[in-house]
Amino acid sequence: MSTPALHGTESKTFDIAWVREQFPSLQLQVNRQTAAFLDGPAGTQVPKQVMDAIQNYFVSANANTYGAFLTSRQNDETIRSARAAMADFFNCHSNEVVFGQNMTTITFALARAIGRELKAGDEIVVTTLDHDANVAPWRALEEKGVVIRQVDIRESDCTLDLDDLSRKITSKTKLVAVGYASNMVGTINPVAEITKLAHAAGALMFIDAVHYAPHGLIDVKALDCDFLVSSPYKFFGPHMGTLYGKREHLEKFKPYKVRPATNTSPESWETGTQVQELIAGIGAAVDYIAELGRHCDPSVKSRREALQAAHRATHPYETALLSRLIAGLQTIPGVRIFGITDTKRFDERCSTLSFRLGNHHPTEIATFLADRGIFTWDGNFYALNLSERLGVEQHGGVLRVGLVHYNTAQEVDRLLLALREFAAP
Ligand SMILES: Cc1ncc(COP(=O)(O)O)c(C=O)c1O
Repeated sequence: MSTPALHGTESKTFDIAWVREQFPSLQLQVNRQTAAFLDGPAGTQVPKQVMDAIQNYFVSANANTYGAFLTSRQNDETIRSARAAMADFFNCHSNEVVFGQNMTTITFALARAIGRELKAGDEIVVTTLDHDANVAPWRALEEKGVVIRQVDIRESDCTLDLDDLSRKITSKTKLVAVGYASNMVGTINPVAEITKLAHAAGALMFIDAVHYAPHGLIDVKALDCDFLVSSPYKFFGPHMGTLYGKREHLEKFKPYKVRPATNTSPESWETGTQVQELIAGIGAAVDYIAELGRHCDPSVKSRREALQAAHRATHPYETALLSRLIAGLQTIPGVRIFGITDTKRFDERCSTLSFRLGNHHPTEIATFLADRGIFTWDGNFYALNLSERLGVEQHGGVLRVGLVHYNTAQEVDRLLLALREFAAP
């Protein structure tokens, strides 16, 4: 086996034992094997801090908002504090953070609200690389005559075709919807650069950061995007979605809402009673990442600095796992990896990787691995345009391995060993 040895310094700079202690589910046993959770892109595991926060909500804050009594006030405080945590996460003001059921629901609601201001012939740019939740809500506006332009990819490395993008953004473009990172092939898009192109054409920039969020620091101020969405269940929190919207836009666009509900943003965008117990968990998820940052670098002061420190530590760790995975896969006959494999270009991708193995159906491989306690995903993961474009849709899509900071080199080795066994003649 020719996988590279882990750098000796890695265990000194990144305390993987401490990380794994925070996640009780990582102890799960399957067929006398410890489960290897390589399914993070569809939802990560949750640290005990998040579980405790959700339980505590029910003990001390279980009431609706803005009542005159103790539990209601505690609930208001829980939501205020989770909004402040997400503001640190996005690097924005608290009143620019909206909570919602999930990214898909939020994006449909936002698209409908923005659509109220559009007319037939206005254009929206989407991409072939994106999850359908950043395509279908905008395509729904075709019903009122909005024209959708779809940017292609470069098939050789599964990156966005930026020349095509530049051509498709014109004076008719009202909004550009691009993912921060691909949930199928891991490509990280140059979203700051694309935001500049969108703004130069007078268009709004909407970023789907759902896949990027567990892998890198988000800074909406530096990006200067108009909207950005992210789902806490992909970054160690509960099953919900969050939206950052520039204050001026949250005030200008009009969400569909019931009459007695407030007209003041961000709450005007939060229709109905929220899943408040999970909002408590969102605050705790951000605090977990900050705690990890403080564990890695005790000198940091603010929560934002702690989040930065966490990503400074997790990025090289995840990259080392990815290198190990790619080097190992490349020794297995019949493996076809989609996306960037050149280690020199790893800044352009995150540690989510998809491949096919000969003509085997990805479900067959996922099932074989599952029997050995290794959890991976097969299919298109709703990145339908990409699965079709790569010609794999009619063959069951791809097998996806997602590596996050609680995964280990041993898990990667177990996966590679099992794949060799599967592929053996
Ligand atoms: C890149 C990306 N965008 C959007 C979504 C949809 O998110 P949600 O499940 O919160 O609606 C997903 C979910 O897998 C995703 O990976």
